[in-house]
Amino acid sequence: MSLRSILKTILLMASTASAARTLFVGSAKGTIKTYEFDETANYQSSIKELASTSESSPAPTWQTIFGNLLYSVSQTEVTADGVVTAYQIGSDKKLIKKGSARGIAGPVSIAVCKGGKLVITASYGGGGVDTFAADGSGGLTHSQRFAYKLNKPGAVPDRQTEPHPHQAIMDPTGEYVIVPDLGADQVRVYNVNSSTTIKELECIKTPPGFGPRHAVFYPVGNSKATHLFVVGELANKIITFKISYDHGRLKAKKVATVSTFGAQIVPTGPSALSAAEIALSPNGKYLYVSNRFDKTQAGKTQDSIAIFSVASDAALTFMQLSASGGLEPRHFSITRDGNWVAVANVGNGNLGIFRRHPENGTLSSSPVISMPNDGASCALWYEPQN
Ligand SMILES: *[C@@H]1O[C@H](CO)[C@@H](O)[C@H](O)[C@H]1NC(C)=O
Ligand SMILES: *[C@@H]1O[C@H](CO)[C@@H](O)[C@H](O)[C@H]1NC(C)=O
Repeated sequence: MSLRSILKTILLMASTASAARTLFVGSAKGTIKTYEFDETANYQSSIKELASTSESSPAPTWQTIFGNLLYSVSQTEVTADGVVTAYQIGSDKKLIKKGSARGIAGPVSIAVCKGGKLVITASYGGGGVDTFAADGSGGLTHSQRFAYKLNKPGAVPDRQTEPHPHQAIMDPTGEYVIVPDLGADQVRVYNVNSSTTIKELECIKTPPGFGPRHAVFYPVGNSKATHLFVVGELANKIITFKISYDHGRLKAKKVATVSTFGAQIVPTGPSALSAAEIALSPNGKYLYVSNRFDKTQAGKTQDSIAIFSVASDAALTFMQLSASGGLEPRHFSITRDGNWVAVANVGNGNLGIFRRHPENGTLSSSPVISMPNDGASCALWYEPQN
């Protein structure tokens, strides 16, 4: 080995030595675990568990990070109040419980608005939305409750006899919050009308049986959205809406619909297909959607993540299906530099970490890390802004 290549190796080691990344994984079986993921030279990598908490039992299926606070739901059965808990993320990445509050049963998602003062939860099981005043250091006080009922069942009666709010998402202006309601076939829209309250506006309708589950505003990082991509769990489709801001209202016009399998034949199987998470790459040029129960990957042993390229006018072009690393990929997240994707495969209790190629949007065909995590439901990178 020449001196020059030895020096190069040392420099490479030094530049990657500090690349330990933190990942939180919430499990439907009761824990939130902290992992340290270490990417070392030559795409070798390792992972170790740093900490685990059970304080959001029975089912911390969703987490949202704001600053150094991590908020988690406890997805209760419909007979028990839902709970949202705030944890401080310690310098050692352990979670320290700071506060909690009760809301509608079965919360599954959390949005944090108004510089951290307003926390909003969407509750699938109990069919409603709650708001909480947050003191910024983990204290939470319930402020509003929106409890919904349906006049009649939707087109998919076994899933649409009740309203099922599935996510709460703040728009880029911070003035609006939207809540896809899987049971009601609509995206509920709210104006953030004070630092602790929201006001419901006219909803965005989706076609009967679409089952809106999650959504993402486009483009990434702009002060206003031009489009909204909504994934329908029941239809396994993505609808693109064109967004306009109009005198205190958020208006949406449907402009396109694509299958989460692109032009490929949609597979059938014993379990109904059900699309789950949707996310844009950090530069907004690629869109990812997880498909559950399709088993199209790794010799029919794994479900898939569909990859689309996104044109500047938000037109989607299906690229390919990629392996999820397991079964039932309920959630995934992408690192801010776009290099890694963590996938929570709840069906077989697996956490998969994939290398992502930012230059063309593809993922490694198999995970660089595949580790058991019973009930893995949400895999969230923690990347504090310095
Ligand atoms: C905000 O909207 C709520 C209804 O959701 C209403 O009760 C409240 O008075 C409004 N607050 C302000 C400051 O407009
Ligand atoms: C994407 O980029 C990676 C890394 O450069 C490469 O290995 C892979 O073949 C590319 N895939 C496609 C479909 O272009």
